[in-house]
Order: sequence, then structure tokens, then C-alpha cells
Amino acid sequence: MSVKLADVSSRVKAETWGQHDLTVHRCHVVTLKKQRRRRRHFSGVKLLPYFYHYITTYTTSIILIICSSPVQTSFWPKQSAPPTTCNRSHVDRAQQVQAQPLHVSLSSLDLPWFGTNASRLRVKDPKRSVQFYEFLGMKVIQKLPNPDANFDLYFLAYDSSKAVSHGNHFTDREGIIELTHNYGTEDDPNYKIANGNQEPHRGFGHVCISVDNLQAACQRIEDAGYKFQKKLTDGRMRHVAFVLDPDGYWVEVIGQKPLEKTENVKETDPTTYRMNHTMIRVKDAEVSLKFYQETMGMQLMRKHEMESAGFNLYFLGYGGPVAENTPEGVSPTADHEGLLELTWNYGTEKDANFKYHDGNAEPQGFGHICISVDDLDAACARFEEKKVNWKKRLTDGRMKEIAFVLDPDGYWIEVVQNEKFKKRANW
Ligand SMILES: *[C@@H]1O[C@H](CO)[C@@H](O)[C@H](O)[C@H]1NC(C)=O
Ligand SMILES: *[C@@H]1O[C@H](CO)[C@@H](O)[C@H](O)[C@H]1NC(C)=O
Repeated sequence: MSVKLADVSSRVKAETWGQHDLTVHRCHVVTLKKQRRRRRHFSGVKLLPYFYHYITTYTTSIILIICSSPVQTSFWPKQSAPPTTCNRSHVDRAQQVQAQPLHVSLSSLDLPWFGTNASRLRVKDPKRSVQFYEFLGMKVIQKLPNPDANFDLYFLAYDSSKAVSHGNHFTDREGIIELTHNYGTEDDPNYKIANGNQEPHRGFGHVCISVDNLQAACQRIEDAGYKFQKKLTDGRMRHVAFVLDPDGYWVEVIGQKPLEKTENVKETDPTTYRMNHTMIRVKDAEVSLKFYQETMGMQLMRKHEMESAGFNLYFLGYGGPVAENTPEGVSPTADHEGLLELTWNYGTEKDANFKYHDGNAEPQGFGHICISVDDLDAACARFEEKKVNWKKRLTDGRMKEIAFVLDPDGYWIEVVQNEKFKKRANW
């Protein structure tokens, strides 16, 4: 039996995930994403010899299970080897590969509480990644192992007694970095993530932490052997450094105090560090600002217009409107660990063909940002009213406790229940 593109689309419409049980014995699972890829694989020729057994959709991706004969490895995403036999757990995994989050969790307006605050990144080797973020003062506050689906999630955040959200549940705090580890990538010499900063796959930019004494903190990181994309002394911006995490993601490091005040300080205390923000690039600032404010309910906390350099930065988050600095000179945003930074490069909005990489198309890297809400059903009903583009409605798929909304650039925004307000997933 051959599969033509037309068959695929009609089956996709007819069948939804979860209504079928699998009873196949020997088969392969192929996850295909996006029209372009699909066309390449489904041009007809390659599939002719295979018996097509089951097809379903998981949001925009397609999971196709092909039985009875070997599948060229070219069908496979680089990071996973085809299983020789297939059962439900493989299908689940294929589904999960599409659905993983880095949390940048944040909170809202129309609804009294939009809460969590996280960014998600795929990592090759969780051991070295966790070690790196622990060195930066973070802690694994929750690990969600999914051995059946061959991946684990690690939620890291600042959690010392000095931290803003010390002791809070992971759905009830800002500034989480969620790492996703797909089993086996650590032993795959060819596995590499896209860090979002290299053409032609630019999109996600970085996460940022703020530290007590910038010079001393950067020295400590350097002494530990970590590499920098930009040291403090490189270039003209002396108050910012970018260290590279083990996968090459950029971590911006900034000071909590003015640079001059910490020049001669030699100590640094990682328990005082904070997650500061997560940066993504957007094509059209006007469209994105409208979306994040009106639809997602965020506030514009501050903006920097860098006209001579041709770009603007916008910092958004949840919580009340912010005043200028308090009399003590403390930034009113100092307690917001989960801000979202949008970078807009002038002119991209005028180019019809211009598009940023969402991190979930190949080559993968950044997963999503995440917000937690007071009432997940109500929040999603409101998003429905606002006519958002869904990646996954609550009712799609098996995971009824998470939804994914697409932002104007196609970045994924995970929406989960803040467990402080209501128990839902019990994770
Ligand atoms: C599914 O297959 C994997 C091996 O690929 C195996 O470890 C697992 O036990 C199987 N699960 C079931 C329910 O048969
Ligand atoms: C994040 O950085 C900004 C700018 O330096 C600062 O005003 C704010 O207090 C920082 N927030 C946190 C949580 O460190």
C-alpha cells in the first residue's frame, strides 16, 4: 500500500490522537513536522515498499507508523535511533518529542493570576548541564522522569533562603529553566542543538542571570573553565558578559549593582544570584507587544530604544504597573525573575519572507516559554475568545493538563495550572 500526500492529509483530518490502540509488532515510528518535511518524505517513492498502518496528528506534527520493512534512517530525527519494535511507548515518545517545554514562566491581568515563570532548553547531556546551572547557583527543584517515553525534564531555579520564590512549587514561581533530555543524545557524537543565535536559525537569544558582583562572578565562571561568547572586557558593552552553557546556549550575566561599585570586589555569592529574563527575537514589535499585552496579559516593564544600532528591547512580565526606581535606587522589577525580553531589529517586519526559527523545527534547541495561570480552563477559554493560534488545545492529545499557544512569530507558549490555586496535574 502506498501513501500519498493526499491520503496523509485526509487521514490526519479523520483521526485524532488517542482514539486508537496499537497492536502492531514490528514497525517504525516516524515523526514528521511541517509541510516542507512532509513533502520531502512523502513524495511517494520512498514509502511505496512500506505497509502503512496507523497515522495520527499531534498538533501540527504527524506521527506515522510504518510496518513490515526497514525504514531508511534518513527518516529519523538525528537524535534518535529507530526502534526495532514498536509499542505504545514509542508512539508516546514521538508525541513527547513535539511537546517538550524550557520554562520561562511568567503571570496576568484580566485573570488575577497568571503565574509560573519558566524557559525550556533541550540538552545533550543532563549531567553536565545540571552541573553548569548549579555552578551558577541554581538548583534542580523538580525532576520529572519519563522513562517510558525516553525523556526527562529538569526544572532549575534559584531556591536558596535568599531567593525570591524559595520553597515554592515549580508551577508557582518565576525564573525556571527547564531542561529536556531525550535519552541517548549524550552518546550521540552528532547530536547538536541549535542555540538560536546562528544564521539561518536565529530566534531564541539567551537566558540572563543577575549576580552580586559582576567582575568577581565572571572570573569565577572563567576559572571553572567555562567558555564565554563575550567576556566583560570584549567589545564596548563592559557591563554584560555572555557565558556559553555546555550545549552552547548563551547565558547573559549582568550585575545587580553598578559596575564601578564592584570593580575591586573579589568575592561572589551564588546564593544571591537571580534569574533575570529570557530573550527571544521578534519580527514585528508592534504585533508582538499587542499580543503579549492584550492576549497574554503581560505588562511592558521597560524598553530600550537603540536607534543608532537599529534595534529595540522590550521587557514584559506579570504584576502591577511599575514605578520608576524607588528612592533607595532598587529597581522595581527586581523581584520579577521571569521577565520576557523581546528584541526587535528594525525592518524585519517589512520583509514578507523574514521568519525567525522557533526552536522546535529542525534543528531543535529552545522549546518554549511557559506561563502558569490561576484557572487553566478559564484561561484557555479566554484565549479561545481572543482567537489565538493554538499549538495544542487542552483537549488535544492525551496530556489534558497543558496547552500550547503560538505567539506571532510561532514561538510556543506553554500554559499550565498554578498548583497553588488549584490542584490539577499533581506533578
Ligand atoms: C515497549 O518497547 C520497549 C523496547 O523498545 C520495552 O522496553 C517496553 O517494555 C515495551 N513496552 C510494552 C508495554 O511492551
Ligand atoms: C534584571 O535586570 C534589571 C536590569 O539590570 C534589573 O533592574 C532587575 O532588578 C533585574 N531583576 C532581577 C530579578 O535580577
